[in-house]
Amino acid sequence: MTGMAAHTHDHIDWAERIPALRRADELHAATHAGIAAGLVDRVGPQPVIVDVGSGAGGMSAAFAVELAHRGGGTLVLVDAVPELLEVAEATASAAIERANAKHPGRVDLESPAAGTQREPSAAQQQVELEQAQAELAGSAVAATVGRAHPGPEAVSNAAFAGHVSIESIRADVASVDLAQLLQPADLVWAASMVHHLPDQQAGIAGLVTALKPGGTLALAEGSPPTYCLPWDLGIGEPGLERRLLAARDHSFGEMRAGMPGSVRMPYGWYTALRKAGLEQVGSFSRLVDLPAPPSEVVRNYVIEHIAWLASDADELVTQEDRDVLRRLLDPADPEYLGNREDIYVLGTQTVHFGSRR
Ligand SMILES: C[S@@+](CC[C@H](N)C(=O)[O-])C[C@H]1O[C@@H](n2cnc3c(N)ncnc32)[C@H](O)[C@@H]1O
Repeated sequence: MTGMAAHTHDHIDWAERIPALRRADELHAATHAGIAAGLVDRVGPQPVIVDVGSGAGGMSAAFAVELAHRGGGTLVLVDAVPELLEVAEATASAAIERANAKHPGRVDLESPAAGTQREPSAAQQQVELEQAQAELAGSAVAATVGRAHPGPEAVSNAAFAGHVSIESIRADVASVDLAQLLQPADLVWAASMVHHLPDQQAGIAGLVTALKPGGTLALAEGSPPTYCLPWDLGIGEPGLERRLLAARDHSFGEMRAGMPGSVRMPYGWYTALRKAGLEQVGSFSRLVDLPAPPSEVVRNYVIEHIAWLASDADELVTQEDRDVLRRLLDPADPEYLGNREDIYVLGTQTVHFGSRR
């Protein structure tokens, strides 16, 4: 166990995982943008949105940009690990600055009072409109989760107005109800975080406390595995990726069972959200389909992802598999994964949601 593991219950050194989390965020940027757009559709103006276990801040950035496009609001980041909180806040702030740089008339992040807005030019408005339409085209989620989208024009006009304030709170959400830390929220988002809590059902109850009546809890959990490799790589026994995923499943079980005070949750996320008293419970999945040949982003992600699976699998796969993995991950080896044109990403991001009464 390292120093960082003391901050969470899962014995994971999260600060060490920052580069991998960043690569995953980079890969999922478009998916995150679509999911954020669909979820922000469900909330009213000037909402409070909370990203719990914000990691490297990929979704925090997507929410921040979405809020800026829609007239502003408050984004609260919560994480147990200060290094990650810092990275997520910087990522979200940088995303807003980039959005503002594209729209010079928009209010500055630090100084909302400086919000003297210039009238956008016709050309700027056209760019805005096209951007909004592209965003809407990418957000089928809006239809899935219910409320009508305000429409490209509304998004376009709001895009010149949004002040977003970002707050960061360091907290272990297994030990404290979220309501004790922040103002009532319109949307609480937690991605791949609840499964790191010893008692997931209790953790969900703690997150629900922060919701306003009618507010939404959305959890990204339980996505099917991501595939990246051909079945037969030409070295070693075919089916390596399937074996790595099976080993990963085993380690995941050990991680859960190894947390002090671990409680099993012997049912699915739908039932968990219903037991937490939420209504209008449902889920949707976004496809992450980045076929071969790989872009640099896909290439880097696949290498990082396979290295992560391999790090978990050491005692669970054969010596032959370990040798193959060493070669696949060695940039100097002719079998290096980074040299292949047939690697890809095919996965999903599954989101479970429900509303507080
Ligand atoms: C797998 S990462 C997910 C990061 C990000 N949400 C994403 O989807 O990429 C889990 C995150 O939850 C945080 N975390 C784990 N246990 C926590 C706890 N008990 N309280 C608050 N944050 C926690 C970790 O520090 C890390 O940032």
